[in-house]
Amino acid sequence: MRELALNILDIAENSLSAGAKNIQIGLKADTQRDEMEIRIADDGCGMDAEMLARVTDPFTTTRTTRKVGMGLPLFRFSAESAGGDFSVKSEKGKGTEVCARYKIGHIDRMPLGDFGGVVLQLITMNPDVDFFVTAEFDGEKGVLDTKEFRAVMDGIPLNAPQVRVFLRDYIQENLVTIYGGRL
Ligand SMILES: Nc1ncnc2c1ncn2[C@@H]1O[C@H](COP(=O)(O)OP(=O)(O)O)[C@@H](O)[C@H]1O
Ligand SMILES: [Mg+2]
Repeated sequence: MRELALNILDIAENSLSAGAKNIQIGLKADTQRDEMEIRIADDGCGMDAEMLARVTDPFTTTRTTRKVGMGLPLFRFSAESAGGDFSVKSEKGKGTEVCARYKIGHIDRMPLGDFGGVVLQLITMNPDVDFFVTAEFDGEKGVLDTKEFRAVMDGIPLNAPQVRVFLRDYIQENLVTIYGGRL
């Protein structure tokens, strides 16, 4: 993967597979400290302690179609090879939180890529799941909460074409402009 946004997509897909109904995606950058953080949290089925201990190892997966699950190991690698660190917290029946931190200016830090496109894709492909997305850059913050959209849309699904256009613009104006092209 050449873009961190694709890692975010992959990790959020784990949350969806885990039956999550609420997914939080947080992007936070502090240029003074040269640090950025990506956090994905869900209320899916979670993992027991044994699974959690093995889960960032590339030879762990519950899939039967493919022996090697690489989502978490690749995300971990993206952080650890860019002067950062990585953590997964999970509780069976409660949910999971994955956090990756980077040195923004590290030569091996992958670019963020199309974060807005990934957020739009996740929301429109999973119209019954709620997403709470934040972008923070040097103290400036933008938020997208699909629960708020749902409340004003009176039953129109989040994947309806007219909603999609609105969402795309909302993501651009409220999340993407926060960090501009700087990550
Ligand atoms: N958010 C999550 N909630 C519950 N289980 C998870 C979550 N993320 C990962 N897992 C477990 O960890 C395993 C490894 O995930 P991953 O590295 O992305 O590989 P893959 O998705 O290909 O199996 C998954 O198969 C799943 O059992
Ligand atoms: Mg996966």
